Amino acid sequence: MRIALISDIHGNKFALDKVLEEIDKDPSIERIYCLGDMVGLGLFSNEVLETIFSRSDIYPILGNHDELVMAMAKGEEHTPDHHMVVDHHRYLAERLDRRFLDRLESLPRSIRANIEGRDVLFIHYHLEKGMENEHISKRPYSPLALDTASTRKLFSDCPGDLIAYGHRHYPPSIDHADGRVLIDPGSLGISTRNFATYATVDITADSMEARILEVEYSRKEFAESYPKAGIPGYEFILTSFLGMDDY
Ligand SMILES: [Fe+2]
Ligand SMILES: [Fe+2]
Repeated sequence: MRIALISDIHGNKFALDKVLEEIDKDPSIERIYCLGDMVGLGLFSNEVLETIFSRSDIYPILGNHDELVMAMAKGEEHTPDHHMVVDHHRYLAERLDRRFLDRLESLPRSIRANIEGRDVLFIHYHLEKGMENEHISKRPYSPLALDTASTRKLFSDCPGDLIAYGHRHYPPSIDHADGRVLIDPGSLGISTRNFATYATVDITADSMEARILEVEYSRKEFAESYPKAGIPGYEFILTSFLGMDDY
């Protein structure tokens, strides 16, 4: 079976539409797993969620940004982060269509599936041992492992012949580690390049072949949405996450 992996859309409807257009050209892709952080950072939460929830071939899980925006929308505790992050998530939560709140709440933090006899784990990122069910305000996700060796070590306590994760954003990576595959398709919506990345994996009983793909999209159009809306912290997002200094 061929599956596609998309992750860290972060409210970028322009990049998502381009990637789905490309995925839809390949009729052999049977399922699309969406590895969380659908919202947060970008403005288009409702448009992105409308697309994700309208398709029966997309299997979404939650990411930390999704949970933080949800927590804010429900009046729950947020992480005691820098006030800029709190203001940013509040802005998005206030504009989140209530129809999507219940849908988001019903999503899991991970999906474990048997695909062609292979044990596959889809998870936004590694969760600290004993923290798997903790509220997002308790910071259940592990700190980022920055290289292949430390990522391999971090996920060594997770099950799965294939582990698909996101959260790191860049660079995308495929690691064949001790007979299993760790794959991060990279952030679809937030990068300093004019390309949105995603991945496909061909899973059979004997092999798992993964590849990273990219599609060009208008990062400029996405960036231009920020000053117009005046979302809190947008200057930092544009310079640090999108590499736009001349907005
Ligand atoms: Fe993310
Ligand atoms: Fe994340």
